[in-house]
Amino acid sequence: MKVLIFGATGMVGQGVLRECLLDGGVDQVRTVGRHATGQQHEKLSEIVHGNLLDLTAFEDDFTGFDACFYCLGVSSAGMSETDYTRVTYDVTMAVARTLVRRNPGMTFVFVSGAGTDGTGQGRSMWARVKGRTESALLALPFRAAWMFRPAFIRPLHGIVSRTPAYRALYAVLGPLTPVLEALAPAWVTTTEKVGKAMLAVVRRGASKTVLENSDINALAG
Ligand SMILES: NC(=O)c1ccc[n+]([C@@H]2O[C@H](COP(=O)([O-])OP(=O)(O)OC[C@H]3O[C@@H](n4cnc5c(N)ncnc54)[C@H](OP(=O)(O)O)[C@@H]3O)[C@@H](O)[C@H]2O)c1
Repeated sequence: MKVLIFGATGMVGQGVLRECLLDGGVDQVRTVGRHATGQQHEKLSEIVHGNLLDLTAFEDDFTGFDACFYCLGVSSAGMSETDYTRVTYDVTMAVARTLVRRNPGMTFVFVSGAGTDGTGQGRSMWARVKGRTESALLALPFRAAWMFRPAFIRPLHGIVSRTPAYRALYAVLGPLTPVLEALAPAWVTTTEKVGKAMLAVVRRGASKTVLENSDINALAG
C-alpha cells in the first residue's frame, strides 16, 4: 500500500505515521506539509510546501497512491469562521480535488472530531465547518472516503500536540487519562488506535462512512 499523510507533524499525524512505518503491508509513505517531520525511514519521503491551496507544482508527486490519511487541522479557539474555514474546508478540498483527479482508486480518510455537525447548519462554528467539509469530501468520486470523529485522543509513544493549549491540557490530564479510558472507553482513543484504524478501514472497509470514537476503537482491534 502507498500512503500519503497530511499533517504528519501533528499529534494525530505523528501517530498515524508511526503505525504506517511499522506496518508490513505499507510499502511507501509520503508526508506533505509546511514543515518536515524530521524522521528518517526507508519507506518515508517528505514534501514540504507552504501553500497547500495550490498544489499545481506537485501533482505528479501525488499520483499513484492507494490512501490518503488527512490529519491536518487546527483548533478553532480564537479564530473567525472565515479563517477556520480556510484551513479546515478550503485547504482540505483543494488537496482532495487534486488527489481524486490523480488517484481515482484512492481511499481518503479525514479526521474531523466527535460532535461534528453533519448538517453543516448548527450553532457551533467548528462543528458546522467540519460537517460541511465531511459532506463535500463524501461527494467526491474517491474509491472510498471515511470520516473519523475521535473524541479525546491519548498521545502515546512520546507524541506531543503542535497546539500549545492542547499540550497544556495533556500535561494536566495525562496521569488521569488511563482512568478516563477505563471509565468511558467510548470517549477515549489513542494515537496508536487512530493509526491502526485508518489502515484497517482501507483494507476492510466499514459499515458506515462516518466513524465515531467507539467505531475507531473497534476497527483498531
Ligand atoms: N487532539 C485531539 O484530541 C483531537 C480530537 C479530535 C479531533 N482532532 C482533530 O484532529 C486533527 C489533528 O489534530 P492534532 O491534535 O494532531 O493537531 P496538532 O497537533 O495541532 O497538529 C496539527 C497539524 O496540522 C498542520 N497544520 C495546521 N494548520 C496548517 C496550515 N495552515 N497549513 C498546513 N498545515 C497546517 C500542522 O502542521 P505544522 O507542523 O506545520 O504546524 C500539524 O501537522 C484536527 O483536525 C483536530 O480537530 C484532534
